[in-house]
Amino acid sequence: MTHPTHSAVNVSKVGYVGFETPDLDRLVDYYTNVLDFVLVEKSADQAYLTTTFDHHSVVLERAETKRARSFVGYQIEEDLDSAERRLRDSGYEVRRRSDIAPSTPDVLIVAEPMSGTPLHLYDAQSGTGATGYTPLRPTKLGHVAAFTPDLKRQQSFYQDLLGFKWSDTVADFFVFLRCNTDHHAANFMASTKYSGMHHVAYETRDLDHLQSLLDHLASRDTRLEWGPGRHGPGHNVFTYHRDPDGNNIELFTQLDQMADEALGYFEPRPWHQDFPQRPKTWEADIAAINSWGGPIVPQQLDH
Ligand SMILES: [Fe+2]
Repeated sequence: MTHPTHSAVNVSKVGYVGFETPDLDRLVDYYTNVLDFVLVEKSADQAYLTTTFDHHSVVLERAETKRARSFVGYQIEEDLDSAERRLRDSGYEVRRRSDIAPSTPDVLIVAEPMSGTPLHLYDAQSGTGATGYTPLRPTKLGHVAAFTPDLKRQQSFYQDLLGFKWSDTVADFFVFLRCNTDHHAANFMASTKYSGMHHVAYETRDLDHLQSLLDHLASRDTRLEWGPGRHGPGHNVFTYHRDPDGNNIELFTQLDQMADEALGYFEPRPWHQDFPQRPKTWEADIAAINSWGGPIVPQQLDH
C-alpha cells in the first residue's frame, strides 16, 4: 500500500522514548547521576525524565525483562482529529488515549507495522520539565535507531504516512530519516537477525560539552565502547556506551542540518564529502562509518 506524501501526518519532533527495565532504580540512577537528566516524576513502576522544558523525553517502566524502545513519542504539527482521520483512512488501527502520561492528555497510538511498537502522536507537551543551565545535561533526545526486517516498508511507512524525509542511506541496509532540520530523528537498520532498538542518541551542545560529559561518565565508571569518531551520514561526532541494562546509548554533536528544504542540501561544513552535501546512498566503507578511522566495533554493523 502506498500513500501520497501530501496525505502524511506531519511529525515535527521525536519527543520521547520508552524503556522497560527489570531494575528501575538502577536505570533512574544512571539517567540522573550519569547523564544528568531531571527526574520529573517517579512512582513504584515508572519514572519520567527530561533534559528540556518538555515534561519527559525518557520514560522508564518496571518490567520482568529489559526492552528498549518499548514505545516512541512523536510530536505532530496537525490537530489530532485530522491526524486520526488520516491514519484510519489509510487503513491503520488507531487508539486515542487521554491517560497515557502526565503532560500528554491527548495521544494517538498507532502500531509500527512490522514491529508492532506503539508510536504515540501528540501535539505538544506541557512545559513542566527542566529549566535553566547546567553544564552536563544533554540538550535533547536526538534520535532513535531500530532494526527492521523490511527496510523498504519501514521507510515508506515513516515517509508516506508520518511525513519523514529521506536524508541518507548506507548501502542497502541503513536508512536515515528527518522530521525537522536535524539530519535524522529516526534511523533503521535492515536485519533478519535482530529486532528492537539499535541505539538511542542524546545531543550535546558542542565538542566541549561532549568532552565534559564523557569525563563525567568516566568518573562514574561508564566507559565508551566506540568513538569518538565522525559518521559519514549526518556527520555527527559520535560516542557509544552501554546503560546499566546494556542498551546502546550514543552521545553526539555537530549533526548535519537541513536548514532550507527548498535548497535540498545540508548546511555546508568543511568536513563534508560533497559540496553541497545532498541526501545520497553511501558505500559501506570507512568514510561512511567513521571518517576519522580507527577500529569498527562489530555490533554497530552486525545486522
Ligand atoms: Fe546515531
